[in-house]
Amino acid sequence: PERCVVAVDGPSGSGKSTVSRRLATAIDGVYLDTGAMYRAITWSVLQSGVDLADTDSVVKVAMETDLSIGTDPLAPHFEANGVDVDAAIRGPEVTGAVSAVAAIPQVRTMLVQFQQEIISAASRIVVEGRDIATVVAPDADLKVYLTASAAARAQRRSAEDATDVAATQADLARRDRLDSTRTVDPLRQAVDATELDTTGMGIDEVVNRLLDMLNSKV
Ligand code: C5P
Repeated sequence: PERCVVAVDGPSGSGKSTVSRRLATAIDGVYLDTGAMYRAITWSVLQSGVDLADTDSVVKVAMETDLSIGTDPLAPHFEANGVDVDAAIRGPEVTGAVSAVAAIPQVRTMLVQFQQEIISAASRIVVEGRDIATVVAPDADLKVYLTASAAARAQRRSAEDATDVAATQADLARRDRLDSTRTVDPLRQAVDATELDTTGMGIDEVVNRLLDMLNSKV
């Protein structure tokens, strides 16, 4: 298709990133990792040294952060205030603080607007996050909600970061709880999204399934 927007939502470790990047490449489109945007803002907040509990200051730092967002599905490169943050945004400090920063309404409003601008400018785009189908791109051509068992998700994440499976499972449970219970735009499945449980499925299998869904829609 000339133009298409695919929304991929789901909890951490459901396979969203790998699948979204592969799908974007397959449709010759770009890829937007909205979680990385929340992470880059969180990195900037931590860097500034403001107290995370001081919401006004956190919002101020977030607003003043100059974000550069890469959308190449093969190498999505991010910078915050001119600094390469690709490695730092995956570190434990950012992972530990990101859900709290992402729960602040003004931070979400700012990033959602930014995300919508990137989507409007693209011809074909795969967007992954928690609130893409519900808030960011409710008119997306395809909306998928990826899930997987808690054990499978922890297994995948710890293989990626070379961390302990039990600790990873506990951290995923903590973030799921925060992300699903926050008042503004919590993680939830859109009524018109197709749920796909990827437990035990290989990446190719998931990508092919999404390509079939997309071909039958557009
Ligand atoms: O997907 P990832 O694990 O990188 O996302 C990091 C965090 O960013 C999530 O745990 C969530 O708190 C937040 N997030 C969000 N809305 C999105 C994407 C991510 O609140 N659309």
